[in-house]
Amino acid sequence: MLRSALLRVSNPIYTEYMRPVIFRSSAQKAHERMMHLLRWADYQAWLDTLFGVGQALTLPNQPITTGGVTLNRPFMLAAGLVKGDGFTSEDAALAAVQSGHNIIPGWRSVPRLIGLVEYGSFTRWPRVGNPGTVVWRDVPTQSTQNRVGLRNPGVKASAVFLGARIAHLPDQFGINIAISPGVDDPDQQTEEVLTGLRAFIEAGVYPTWFTLNLSCPNTEDDPSGNQTADQTRQLCHAAVNDLREARLVVGRQIPLWVKVGPTLSVEQYRALMGVFAETGVRAVIATNTLPAPTPDDPTITAGVAGGRLHDHALETAAILMQERTKHDYPVDVIGCGGVSDCQTYQNFRNLGVETVQYWSALIYRGPFVAALIMDEVSR
Ligand SMILES: Cc1cc2nc3c(=O)[nH]c(=O)nc-3n(C[C@H](O)[C@H](O)[C@H](O)COP(=O)(O)O)c2cc1C
Repeated sequence: MLRSALLRVSNPIYTEYMRPVIFRSSAQKAHERMMHLLRWADYQAWLDTLFGVGQALTLPNQPITTGGVTLNRPFMLAAGLVKGDGFTSEDAALAAVQSGHNIIPGWRSVPRLIGLVEYGSFTRWPRVGNPGTVVWRDVPTQSTQNRVGLRNPGVKASAVFLGARIAHLPDQFGINIAISPGVDDPDQQTEEVLTGLRAFIEAGVYPTWFTLNLSCPNTEDDPSGNQTADQTRQLCHAAVNDLREARLVVGRQIPLWVKVGPTLSVEQYRALMGVFAETGVRAVIATNTLPAPTPDDPTITAGVAGGRLHDHALETAAILMQERTKHDYPVDVIGCGGVSDCQTYQNFRNLGVETVQYWSALIYRGPFVAALIMDEVSR
């Protein structure tokens, strides 16, 4: 078949020629270069055409209904790649948008090349993120580690930016919203989430799904705080209600998904699943990264993803699936953590999880990773 043949040719181009060159630089340098490249690629009409053709030839449509929507296929790029520049203030971020600056590198080129993408995380206010080295790779285990620290332009500038480019947004995409680190007051947290949802909707940006990120292990706050049942109930209830009310404007119900971390207790996951079902959350992404000491400084932690996260993400997904089945909750589980090939995808499918997100595999297997896995599965 043409698709398999094309992938057989393109795969070695990445793994044998491009990846060794990329891996000659540190993960940090490679990440920075990738951002420059994406910033440029977003405005190259010829690349847009080339990527579109490449995607049409390599990525089959395989519709799957999950989390209250029918997605074109069961693979999505997880949040964190296409989330934009850091700014010190909302005025600065809005001024950058006004002056025509591309504040969200990859917003157009990445989905065009690889398919479904979750943009963000975006926070209420812009953030510059953590200083110094913030990304690492662990090649033997095909893992990444990061403490980017939610660097992003903030919800308002991001919404204005994407709102001015609606015609070029993909037909399906997600938007991930996170609470600002350090904001502990439940009412303020709710206010931040609602401001985020409304900013995008008011700008005419209607994603296929919104994700509420309840787990930000790479920032200075205590990430578990946002994952208590009571706080989660208040947040999810308010967000789902807001999206119900937005139905008239949007013309359809945008489902709310949530994303959890991999370090909660079994009881916490069970309690959270009950809250998700009760408040109308349609899917839970399991999981975000696993906090661990950085390779450079054991006193600093950063989120591990990829191979070293896989078993933890599977364990979490298994607990959530058991709970879903036991109570017949209408909350789908979306796998995320170390999905990189047919086997790791199959490990989630064995739990009954059909839809997955990936991030680290993009680094190790290249931009056609979703197509490669789908091809491996079909054979
Ligand atoms: C550099 C980097 C930045 C990330 N930033 C975010 C983020 O802003 N929001 C989020 O929800 N997850 C973020 N993540 C986590 C990913 O979305 C995903 O949950 C995690 O990488 C596990 O998937 P993987 O094992 O396929 O990499 C980030 C991951 C990486 C590697």
